[in-house]
Formats: sequence, structure tokens, C-alpha cells
Amino acid sequence: MPAKSKKQQDFAPLLLRWNREKNTRQMPWKGEKDPYKIWLSEIILQQTRVEQGWSYYNNFIRSFPDVHALAKAPEAKVFKLWEGLGYYSRCRNLIVSAKYISGDLKGKFPDSYEKINTLKGVGPYTAAAISSFAFNLPYAVVDGNVFRVLARIFGIRTPIDSAQGKKEFTQLANELLDKNQAGLYNQAIMDFGAVICKPSPVCDQCPFQKKCYACLHDKINELPVKEKKLSIKKRWFYYFLLECKNETAIRQRTGKDIWQQLYEFPMIETEKETDLKAVLSKAEKDGILLKGKYDVLSVSGVYKQQLSHQLIAGQFIRIKLKSKPARKNDWIWLPGSKLRKYAFPKFINQHVREK
Ligand code: ADE
Repeated sequence: MPAKSKKQQDFAPLLLRWNREKNTRQMPWKGEKDPYKIWLSEIILQQTRVEQGWSYYNNFIRSFPDVHALAKAPEAKVFKLWEGLGYYSRCRNLIVSAKYISGDLKGKFPDSYEKINTLKGVGPYTAAAISSFAFNLPYAVVDGNVFRVLARIFGIRTPIDSAQGKKEFTQLANELLDKNQAGLYNQAIMDFGAVICKPSPVCDQCPFQKKCYACLHDKINELPVKEKKLSIKKRWFYYFLLECKNETAIRQRTGKDIWQQLYEFPMIETEKETDLKAVLSKAEKDGILLKGKYDVLSVSGVYKQQLSHQLIAGQFIRIKLKSKPARKNDWIWLPGSKLRKYAFPKFINQHVREK
């Protein structure tokens, strides 16, 4: 390993001093030592902003104070608590890992980086976070915050979404890590990225201002570099809020797709925006509606939701049915008051709540 430059040697002390003297960021899991709670917080935070994850974390801890409680909970209850957070595979993996730790490991949380890294839903970032926060093991976290901080301060142009970039940033991060206080250091660098070296940074409060490559060379907006442009697929979802004898129909999403295991109203999907007549005709072909046996009561405006690789757009069509269609075995008919027992995607909840 090459000797550390002066800038590298100064990095951890300056960061930790900022953390001691200036960092006032509060979070419910900060300073937590229980690996179960840390694991839970890190899974919630994988694709979620801290502000949004906060109440979910508190609700989970209240409902499932330890791994056994989570492992033996009905899965529908766990999904209901996760409702609205998105990326539901995280919730499925959480359940699988909880059962493994509670059953196979008799509740003893794995205590080495390698073992933690093999848990379902845990990758190198989360393994480093849990290892360092719970066990003070010397593994540097490398997340979006860390990429941004290191790319800017050290002027690294290797794309962060390339294999070479991941290797280079991970190596530098581990060289910079204060190995005696790995947990404190890792939390400090993430907070620093979230509070100071944000996408739009506050350089006048930054202790690295005079050393930062991006600040000195006016490259803040160019760093970090990404190699791939994200291609976004657009999908149109038309949901049918069917009314029949004071009941409405829902079904569970089972396919290998977004929102797996959540519930939804019967729907059709199209690639393009589609007018009402064509939507109804497609629903008739699909057996959702029976020609001449329904009335359209109302059609909502267009809703949109941006996911990481797709843009979902859609409308909600309220329909009164004269009779329930046959051969829809996966539908559940229930009165409106029972809907809240099921977990729905945010896209649907935003409409239902507005009504
Ligand atoms: N993002 C993921 N984990 C985090 C943590 N422990 N603190 C702040 N932001 C985070």
C-alpha cells in the first residue's frame, strides 16, 4: 500500500473534529449498539431519505422490539408497516433474514463482516455500516455520500458506477478510515455528505474548503462522475375502482415486477397514454368488465410517480357493476372500510386518500 499523502493523513482528524464541534444531526438510531436495530435502520435507509425513514424505524421497533418478534410476525403485518417506503424487495429480504437469525442462529446476530455480508438484502455498504456501528470493526462505508465527498475533495474522476470506480473509492475510503473509531468515523462521513458536501454543497462551512480539489478548481458540479445515463421506461396504469353491492375488488400483485406482494385494484397496463374508450374495451377483452353490464361513474386526473428506472402514470376509473364478473379467482371483494388492512403502493394510496 502506498504511503498516505498529507492530505490523506489530515482527512480523518479534520472530519472527526467537524463531527465533534459542528455536527448537530440527530437520528433515532445514532449511537445505537444493538445490531438488530442498526440492521433495521440501514435496510430502511437503503433507498429512503433519513427524514422519511425516521417514523418507519420507530414504528418497526415499537412493533418488533427484537429479531424474534419480527421473525414470527404475520408477513402481511410487516408489509403493512413497510407500506409507502417502496422497493418492497427490502421488506421481503428483511423477513427472510429475520427468520434465519431468529431460527438458525437462535437470535444471535452475526458479528463478522463476512457473515453479515451474506445476509439477504445486505451488500458491502450495509455490512460495513452494521459491522462498524455495532461491533466497531474497521470497514469503511461507501455510499452515495462517500462517493461525493471523496470525488470532490480528492478530485477523482473515475465513474462511481463503474467496477473500477467502486474498487478505487472503496480502497481510498478504507485508507482514510480511522480504524480505532470506525463507527464514529463512518457516521461522521455520512453526516458530512448529507449536511455539508450535499449535491449543492455549503462550502463556506466546510473544513476542507482550502484543500478540496473541486472547490479550488471550480468543479463542484462535475464531481462525482457517472458513466451511465439512466434510461427511464414509461408505463401507464389504469385502475378500476369497481363498486358492486357496497363492495370493491382488490388483488395481490404476484408477478416479478414492481410492488410485488402489495395489493391493487384490477387494472390494465398500456405503453402509451390511452383514451377512456380504448381502456374500457381492453378491460372488456381482459374479462375485468362485461360489455353493457357497467356504468362509468368518474375518471380521475392523471397521477405520476417517478421510480428509479421507470415513470408510472395512470388514472383511476370508478365503475358501478351490475354483477361481479366470473372467473376472477384472484380477486378479493370487500367493503371499503376493510381496505386499510391491506398494503397498497403509494401510487394508489395518494388517490384513495384524496377522495
Ligand atoms: N444513510 C444510511 N445509513 C445512514 C446513517 N446511519 N446515517 C445517516 N444516513 C444514512
